[in-house]
Amino acid sequence: MQVTQRPERAVRLRRLRRTDAIRELVRETRLHPHQFVYPMFVRGGRRVREPIPSMPGQFRLSVDELVSDVSAIRGLGIDAVLLFGLPDAKDPAGSGAYADDGIVQQAVRTLRAAHPDLIVMTDVCLCEYTTHGHCGLVRDDDVDNDATLELLARTAVSQAVAGADVVAPSAMMDGQVAAIRRAMDETGCQHVAIMGYSAKYASAFYGPFREAAGSAPQFGDRRGYQMDPSNAREAEREVAVDLAEGADIVMVKPALPFLDVLSRIRRTVTAPLAAYNVSGEYAMVKAAAEHGWLDEPRAVLEVLTAIARAGADLIITYHAKEAAAWLSRR
Ligand code: PBG
Repeated sequence: MQVTQRPERAVRLRRLRRTDAIRELVRETRLHPHQFVYPMFVRGGRRVREPIPSMPGQFRLSVDELVSDVSAIRGLGIDAVLLFGLPDAKDPAGSGAYADDGIVQQAVRTLRAAHPDLIVMTDVCLCEYTTHGHCGLVRDDDVDNDATLELLARTAVSQAVAGADVVAPSAMMDGQVAAIRRAMDETGCQHVAIMGYSAKYASAFYGPFREAAGSAPQFGDRRGYQMDPSNAREAEREVAVDLAEGADIVMVKPALPFLDVLSRIRRTVTAPLAAYNVSGEYAMVKAAAEHGWLDEPRAVLEVLTAIARAGADLIITYHAKEAAAWLSRR
């Protein structure tokens, strides 16, 4: 009688894929709405909900509408929002970014009062506020790094004073985290955290965002300050510099085209790591789903799971609201 085991069948990986409950038991990566950060666009006016054509399901909201949308997302278990401001007027110095009554500052004060335990994060950059659309002050057709630092620091302080919990510099100026940390510490905002957009690449996937914010550069591009998509080792240097300058959270952006960078940073860094699933990544999935070419809930949860599996603790995503609803039904 032949009793020897066939070795190729002693190991059967399908045993642990047999039922929903077993799969759940051995699942390595779990998504939860608490790890999502929902990006929102705020503008002036009252009762304004202006759809963003390239980002179906996303809106430019007036402050009152923002407050009511935040109530809805909190009901889904999402605790954090990242605010982007659309000012009534722009100028070359981006003064709307650091005005005490700027649109983001107003939104933060109102949200703070309406939702005391909401985590309010604010983008710190000038591009939505400048007529030329660059992320800093332009001198001789170039972005002047060191002159920009002071304005970024003023922006962060004004947002922190308004009540932001986390300020997130995205301008990719050298020294921006240090400048912001110093300015916030000098103005009694020691408790406010910094999330550095540390490894932010010069990406084609920001297209829909720039349409939403009217922030496309009017000349040239951002390759003189954002990272070259070809470089991964350089991301480690950017992250190390941000941490040395006092960043509390570091980020890789975009997410999907840079999952290798995310996993590489995860292995080198113990600080909380964020990934930004950007506007173009969102638009791709939405467009395919609208054509019936993708099963949207499955595609979105697969994308977000992949980002978490690659090493992200926090996921900044326009899918947050829908994903949270789908997760609660799963
Ligand atoms: C501002 C900023 C941008 C994004 C986040 N902060 C645009 C840019 O760098 O052009 C992009 C976010 C997205 O595409 O969802 N500098």
